[in-house]
Amino acid sequence: MCGIVGHVGSEQAAPVLIDGLRRLEYRGYDSAGVAVHVEGGDVKVVRAVGKLRNLEAQLGAAPLVGTVGIGHTRWATHGRPSEVNAHPHVAGPIVVVHNGIIENHLALRARLEERGAKIASDTDTELVAHLVAFKVQEGLDLEGAVRAALRELHGAYAIAVLSKSEPDRIVVAKSSSPLVIGLGEGVTYCGSDVPALLPYTRRMIFLEDGDMAVLTRAGASVTRIETGERADRAEKIIDWSAVMAEKAGFKHFMLKEIHEQPRAIEDTLRGRLDRENADIHGHEIGLTEADATSVTRVVLLACGTSHHAAMTGRYYLEQLAKIPTTVELASEFRGRDPIVGPGDLVIAVSQSGETLDTLMAAREAKDKGAKILAIANVIGSAIPRLAHAAFYTHAGPEIGVASTKCFTTQLANLLMLAIWLGRRRGTLDAAGARELVEGLAKIPVQMRDVVIGTRQLVGNLAKRYRDARDVLFLGRGLSFPIALEGALKLKEISYVHAEGYAAGEMKHGPIALIDSQVPVIVLMPKDRWYERTFSNLQEAMAREGQMISVATEGDDAAHRLTQDVVEIASVPEPLTPFLTVLPLQLYAYYVADFKGTDVDQPRNLAKTVTVE
Ligand code: M6R
Repeated sequence: MCGIVGHVGSEQAAPVLIDGLRRLEYRGYDSAGVAVHVEGGDVKVVRAVGKLRNLEAQLGAAPLVGTVGIGHTRWATHGRPSEVNAHPHVAGPIVVVHNGIIENHLALRARLEERGAKIASDTDTELVAHLVAFKVQEGLDLEGAVRAALRELHGAYAIAVLSKSEPDRIVVAKSSSPLVIGLGEGVTYCGSDVPALLPYTRRMIFLEDGDMAVLTRAGASVTRIETGERADRAEKIIDWSAVMAEKAGFKHFMLKEIHEQPRAIEDTLRGRLDRENADIHGHEIGLTEADATSVTRVVLLACGTSHHAAMTGRYYLEQLAKIPTTVELASEFRGRDPIVGPGDLVIAVSQSGETLDTLMAAREAKDKGAKILAIANVIGSAIPRLAHAAFYTHAGPEIGVASTKCFTTQLANLLMLAIWLGRRRGTLDAAGARELVEGLAKIPVQMRDVVIGTRQLVGNLAKRYRDARDVLFLGRGLSFPIALEGALKLKEISYVHAEGYAAGEMKHGPIALIDSQVPVIVLMPKDRWYERTFSNLQEAMAREGQMISVATEGDDAAHRLTQDVVEIASVPEPLTPFLTVLPLQLYAYYVADFKGTDVDQPRNLAKTVTVE
């Protein structure tokens, strides 16, 4: 999705803008541009299609000299990727960058054209620039003009605006799209995401929906768009260091993030495991002891990889806390008038905390009276802000578009939540809880062993099967969401067709896909589903599939029956997904790397999906 960076300070703006945009590349984009106040009361704009290096080449040939500017990476929504559609957009003295969608753009375009606006691009953003320019013509200053314009816009947006006649400021605003302000000494920044600003400052202000702010070298003054009233937004100190957002010697962010998972889980568990009492310190969960016993149903909302974590969470909540639980694709939840309300605990699971589908679904559930708990990785993001409570994962910044460490940390939070609820509801005894709490404490080391111990074998398998046309992932029970996740990872970064299937469902259709050319990856840890998965494995073998198993160490039958066995340690059943997913992430990574695809920024995908 689009990325925004802004700088108002005393150093040159353009290098900071480019650096910030580079840190937002992971969000996905197809063109980029910057605008800088230059000497003589003008604002110069440079835009280029494709990667940032194209923009940099233009800036290298004709540098923009000035200390106040805005930059943007565009992920096309209205109009194809082209220079004319790239941001910033200019109308008279006004220059705008924008992330999101203006829903009333058709009516707005007609109105602006009637007033004589010459609109050059297909974008909704240029309309915002013209609207603000008309407000300036009517005598308003930049802040007043932006405020008046925004009151006429519907939709989800984050914007940053410059005016040629007010060279010391940037006006920003947000509604349902992410925007963060960074504070420094004599310098103020804005960005779509924390990592864009981390090398410059850790002092951040997170705007609320409906906020706008004027950024000057002295700081940020935040007001409400509708009322113009001052809004005091507390400054937060972000403890992610910029180094955590670098590749640290790995070829790609995704590979680094796969290897970081043991550390990410340790950070996520820190301070939350109550080993003495075989319990979880659950104050962040935002439920009272009475809430824990009175909740009648849990609804999990999520998209993509987070949806697979949520599916695993359903097993945890049903098995350990005995609460009826449903899992919903957030994008399918809205619009069907879902039956949800008081008594329901709705858990919105999202790495970014900004996914619009999940945000809107959670908002609908909240409006209907449900209690909302967010499980998110980005502190202060939109979903935690909307929720009654936020139980954060502490994976650190995830830069690769393919989610890895955020997935396993989501599993950790869901399992901790189920243990906490199970203890309070009397459905999980102390011995059962102790096994899980101790199992969680040990899991980072076992994860490290799987990543380090299997990566060579998995790399060899990826090399052998990199040209396979289809790949099938099978699993039952807790391994079913992991099979889905293995297939999603492979599809999104290597563009190989892959299916994840409940192993027992295979005979009802996808078995037709299997022949001697098709790798079939069967997840078969020693769990309650093992025997039945074993039967499904034999069905696939009988169709001459290329069988690979992910099995518990010492499983002789797996070694006898499958060509290749990727071994994981024996762990308590609920913890198996923490291990089985790791070789699948590695497999997807190595296939993509052999194919030479853009692993960290796969085609057509965005890290944070802020459109519905
Ligand atoms: O930020 P979220 O967890 O809400 O994102 C949801 C999906 O867009 C995300 O998981 C997507 O499927 C990833 N590319 C998966 O690797």
